Amino acid sequence: MRQHTEDTLTDAVVARLAKTRDPRLKQVMTSLVRHLHAFAREVNLTEEEWFEGIKFLTAVGQKCDDKRQEFILLSDVLGLSMMVVSLNHETPPGATEATVLGPFFAHGAKEHGYGADLRQGATQKGEDVWVSGKVLSLDGRPIPNAALDIWQAKADGIYDLQTEGEFELRGRVRANDKGEYAFASYKPSFYSIPMDGPVGELIRATTGDHMRPAHMHAIVSAPGYQQVITHVFVEGDPHLDGDAVYAVKDSLVGKYRKVDSPGEAKKLGMPNPFLRLEWDFRLAPAGEAKARRKIAASDAVT
Ligand code: BEZ
Ligand code: FE
Repeated sequence: MRQHTEDTLTDAVVARLAKTRDPRLKQVMTSLVRHLHAFAREVNLTEEEWFEGIKFLTAVGQKCDDKRQEFILLSDVLGLSMMVVSLNHETPPGATEATVLGPFFAHGAKEHGYGADLRQGATQKGEDVWVSGKVLSLDGRPIPNAALDIWQAKADGIYDLQTEGEFELRGRVRANDKGEYAFASYKPSFYSIPMDGPVGELIRATTGDHMRPAHMHAIVSAPGYQQVITHVFVEGDPHLDGDAVYAVKDSLVGKYRKVDSPGEAKKLGMPNPFLRLEWDFRLAPAGEAKARRKIAASDAVT
């Protein structure tokens, strides 16, 4: 058939996609086309509106460079990043929950051992915090030598990658052979997601919700265990209920306790008083993560 109408067009595209050799690509593209067509029909999309949409997506792409990832930001504010995280990480009971990666992870941060000082070279001061804990398996056994990739915004809520400077408040911290890790940093503060691009314009025109509650990012990895991409949020933060990217989980909210003890401060090389966050990460064994995807693939539309 060469002549298509609003009623036959979707099936025509889907029929053509039936030739796709990769079954997963066929499933994803077929579903995408069905949903895109249904969306256009549901809102009665005008040509002017779709052209605005194309201009918006073009601007999102043009805003991206090696430091700025506007498409990740778009996915985050639409809740799609958290949807994909939820679909792919059915956290077993007791395991540290996963949340969004966000656009500010960077490879190549400096490697540190137990007791690292991530404040070194920081261009702004904050409240000093000693972060310590263990990396554990689900049955509570310490996992030796796990790697913790840590990053957070500076005191002004801006990430180092958003500026011209060097890496700041980030590092790859190695746990010791007893599974213990520790480092000094500054207490994170809440911040606005970048609002100077097309995603910011979209937020201003829609929800207005652009704040992220204070958090530290961590990616925790160890051989034989599922890597977890997660955050530790700050208890009491005013933005925990309105996170711009829907990434808060109750299990990821940590208490920053004030310590006023010259002896303890001296022992840890911290000023007195200081804050302390005690936080354990619990990793699930490798090999259980893809169960749901496999089930979904076997239900594939053919
Ligand atoms: C972040 O936590 O770094 C982040 C996540 C999503 C959007 C913007 C920032
Ligand atoms: Fe962040």
